[in-house]
Amino acid sequence: MKLTFAASRRLWWGIPLLLVLLACLGALLPQWGSELPQPPAFTTVALPIVRFIRDIAAAITVGALAVGGLLVKRQSSRVIGWATWWALVWLVSLVAEVVLTFSDILAVIPSLDGAALGSFLTDVSVGRVFLWQGIAVLVVLAMSRAVLSRPTAWVVLACALGGAMAPAFLGHGGLSGGHAAATISLALHLAAVSLWVGGLVVVVAWLRVDPARARTVLPRFSTLALVCVVVVAESGLLNSSLRSSTPAQFLASDYGALLVAKATLIVWLVTLGWQQRKRVMPQLELAESAESADSTDSLSVVILARIAGWEFLAMGAAVAVGVTMARVGPDSAAASALPVNPLMLALLAAALPAAFAQILRPSSDRALVRWAQQFPEIVAILLAIIVVEVAGVAVLSSLLGPDVGAVVGAVVLVACGWLGVVALQGERSKLARGAFTAAWVVALGVTLGFERAQFPQMFDVRLSVLALAVAVVSVMLVGVGPVREVAVTQPLEPAHG
Ligand code: HEM
Repeated sequence: MKLTFAASRRLWWGIPLLLVLLACLGALLPQWGSELPQPPAFTTVALPIVRFIRDIAAAITVGALAVGGLLVKRQSSRVIGWATWWALVWLVSLVAEVVLTFSDILAVIPSLDGAALGSFLTDVSVGRVFLWQGIAVLVVLAMSRAVLSRPTAWVVLACALGGAMAPAFLGHGGLSGGHAAATISLALHLAAVSLWVGGLVVVVAWLRVDPARARTVLPRFSTLALVCVVVVAESGLLNSSLRSSTPAQFLASDYGALLVAKATLIVWLVTLGWQQRKRVMPQLELAESAESADSTDSLSVVILARIAGWEFLAMGAAVAVGVTMARVGPDSAAASALPVNPLMLALLAAALPAAFAQILRPSSDRALVRWAQQFPEIVAILLAIIVVEVAGVAVLSSLLGPDVGAVVGAVVLVACGWLGVVALQGERSKLARGAFTAAWVVALGVTLGFERAQFPQMFDVRLSVLALAVAVVSVMLVGVGPVREVAVTQPLEPAHG
């Protein structure tokens, strides 16, 4: 348990991010002043945190059962033991979630009133989903120690996956009202996320104490992770496409911005996963033939853990974004009065191109690339003007109409962001970083000014501050991002325990 917690440390950084996201989207605290009864502030803050803990605990339980029960020929009692501990954490977080959800729905102080909670769990459809999830977790807890063969591992893993998928039957993806496709795609999404995230935590923790297993476990897990990433992306995109909104609403909404944040994170994750394959697999092949196979195995585990550290950051962020999406809901359309939500602006014109820059290298043979790298300050000014024109002046929506304007606007922002990324990779990269940071401060400041002048009642500075942070971090990561940082040359001591 301690080992998996240590390995998954960076995943938990998703909790502060979750709180920041909720605070910036105005969903962290109850809507005081509203005429409807509001839940206590404690409930509103604690519920998403508990949900995050539930998602991670479910993932590590599923990961431990899959890796320790099925990825190796002889089941590992150590790894299956981790599944038992994390199932316990899952159960506790689920009980807390039931109490807090009850308090949230009925706007009452959280309490352990057995009769009221009992009827919530049996009479209300949301409660029944919790009940089924709880039963699945209890079965996992009771049976995990009995995983001694592949058939039992399959049975317990199926129960754990069922529990991990249960939240798909709640809320925005609920089966009611003909939303079967939304529910099934979200269930697949959650199952694949659990196998992938939890599997990686368990593989890192296990190989740190037993590096000799690397040659058996890593190639198999690598294939599993590849399948999971495809399912996560496909099911996530399918689910998003079912939450119908027009392109204009998508670009203006908080939910749309959160979806683009997810897409950006998955680009980072694919890049990091590809780095794992490229750097760890050759080490393993070397170990097959090397005299000192042990040290070669240890080195591959060190490289794996380093890259996985970055993967956990991105995965924790993606889970935080998922929990935020579930909290704010797709109906938060047009949360921004401007044609483009400020967070969407920073994601399209900075974060997404910066993520793609980790894989795609611009060729310096092209005249446009050479020009951008020679004059990054001009590209930065151009970016600021385009951001203000598209989001502040709303020139494209006035000329082309809201929907066509939104599509063209998104393409223009990404193209301009890509030119910025190209400029940042040239010889004048230091100056370019300063110029782009200044450009973002000016562009977001001016669009905020437009919002304040036109829609004073909707004016909110928090989202623009978050957008600025996203843009600046993206600018800083171009050219020095994790993919470069993980070039490992010195082996580290593997952990013992
Ligand atoms: C192309 C990339 C992705 C897309 C389009 C996407 C889309 C979605 C959507 C639409 C939801 C439902 C939110 C709601 O109920 O309103 C969701 C939930 C979720 N996603 Fe993703 N996702 C993507 C990638 C990821 C990744 C990479 C992870 C983690 C590694 C992840 C983890 C989750 C989790 C844990 C939830 C459930 C949160 C909760 O309800 O507690 N997603 N995602």
